[in-house]
Amino acid sequence: MALLLGVCAAVWPPSRVRGGGSIDVAPSEDLKEGDGVVYPLESGPILIMRNDGELRAFSAICTHLSCPVKWRKDSLDIYCACHGAVFNARGEKLKGPTAAPLEKIPVKEIGGRMIAQIG
Ligand code: FES
Repeated sequence: MALLLGVCAAVWPPSRVRGGGSIDVAPSEDLKEGDGVVYPLESGPILIMRNDGELRAFSAICTHLSCPVKWRKDSLDIYCACHGAVFNARGEKLKGPTAAPLEKIPVKEIGGRMIAQIG
């Protein structure tokens, strides 16, 4: 039983987005300026946002204890409700218990689609 608990603790909750390669996530028109949406991919949830004319993507898993994060359009930041971590629109920590920034996910637009590169 202890071994099973150890294995579960090692893989759940996921600490980062894994594998997958090049993934067609959604139509570009999903995101207007200032929007941010979490997409629950098989490889893990990613947050894609359009801010200052740039498309950016991050793992939607908090770097503190792996709770989900969300984009707050009103304050233009990324928030984790578990322990109050706040990240700016570049995924850098602003406040809270975590030391690490959010994991960046390369994303680009091709033919009107948002394509994420999950490594
Ligand atoms: S898990 Fe996000 S602040 Fe603790």
